[in-house]
Amino acid sequence: MTGAQALAQAVADLAAIDGGARDARVLLAHALGVDRTRLTLVLDDPMTPGQLGAFQDMITRRAGHTPVSQIIGSREFFGRRFIVTPDVLDPRPETETLIATALEKPFKRVLDLGTGSGCILITLLAEREGATGLGTDTCNLALDVARANARALGLADRCRFYWGDWYAAVPVPEVSDDWQVRDDERVSGYGPRTRTLPVVPRFDLIVSNPPYIALGEMDALAPELSYEPHNALTDGGDGLAAYRAICAGFGPHLLPKGRLMVEIGPTQGRAVADMMRAAGMESVEIRPDLDGRDRVVMGQNPA
Ligand SMILES: C[S@@+](CC[C@H](N)C(=O)[O-])C[C@H]1O[C@@H](n2cnc3c(N)ncnc32)[C@H](O)[C@@H]1O
Repeated sequence: MTGAQALAQAVADLAAIDGGARDARVLLAHALGVDRTRLTLVLDDPMTPGQLGAFQDMITRRAGHTPVSQIIGSREFFGRRFIVTPDVLDPRPETETLIATALEKPFKRVLDLGTGSGCILITLLAEREGATGLGTDTCNLALDVARANARALGLADRCRFYWGDWYAAVPVPEVSDDWQVRDDERVSGYGPRTRTLPVVPRFDLIVSNPPYIALGEMDALAPELSYEPHNALTDGGDGLAAYRAICAGFGPHLLPKGRLMVEIGPTQGRAVADMMRAAGMESVEIRPDLDGRDRVVMGQNPA
C-alpha cells in the first residue's frame, strides 16, 4: 500500500474528528519518519509493513480522541519542538500570545509558575540571550518533562525547575552569590563580619498559564481534554483560584517595575485585571489572542 492510499483510508477513519484530515497527514509523516513539509514527495512510495502497522495504530488512537501530541510525543510551540507526555498540558497555540507579550520588553530573570512542559520559560529564555529563570509545578513528572525539554533545546544551564505550590516552590537560599541582596538587607556598620541572610529571589518577569477552567465547565470539554492532567486544567473551583494566589503573592518576588502576566480564559479578563489592580499593580492591560478573544492580563509593579 502506498502512503497516499493509507492516507485516504485514515482520513475516512478520522471523519468524526475535528481536523482529522490534518491530523492524518501529521501522523503519516511521523510514521514515515519524514518532515511534514516533505510528505507530498513520498506519498506515492510503498509503505513497509512496519510503517503501515505503526500508522494504523496511531489512527486508531486518534479515532479514540488521544491528542496527536501524545501519540507522537511532541508538539511544535513558537517554532521549537517540545516533548509532550500525559503528565503535561499539550502546549497551545494561544499561549504564544503570552510569549509575544512578554517579548515586547527586555527581561533578565523569569519566574514561570505552573511550568508544565516548560514551554513558556524555555521559549522566553531561548528568545532572550543571557536571560535565566525558574519554573515551578506541583507535578514532579511534569518537572521532569520540563527539564528534558530544557536539555533538548540546549538551555539547561539557564533554567532550574522546582516542585511546590506557586511561589512556595521558589527556593530561598540563606546566603548566595547568585542572587542580589536587597539594599535593606545589606550588612553594614559594626555588625558581624559575616551573616547568613534569607535572600528572596526576585524577578523582572513573572509569567503563568495556570489551570483556569471552572470545575463546573469540565464535563462540557472536548473528549481530547480527558487525556490531559486534571490539575493542569482546573483548580477544582471557580477557575480563578490560581490568579488569587499569584496576585496575592508577587510582592516579595517581583522587582520594582517588573511585569506580571498571566494567560486567562476568554471570560476572565475583567476579574483578573481587578485582582491585579487590587494588589497594587499599575498599567494593567488585557490582551487578545489571534482569534480576538481576551487571553493575557498583564500589570507592572510600581517603582
Ligand atoms: C495550564 S497548565 C500550563 C502548563 C504550561 N505552562 C503551558 O502553558 O503549557 C498549568 C500547570 O500548573 C500546574 N499547577 C497546578 N496547580 C499548581 C500549584 N498550586 N502550584 C504550581 N503549579 C501548579 C499544573 O501541574 C500544570 O502543569
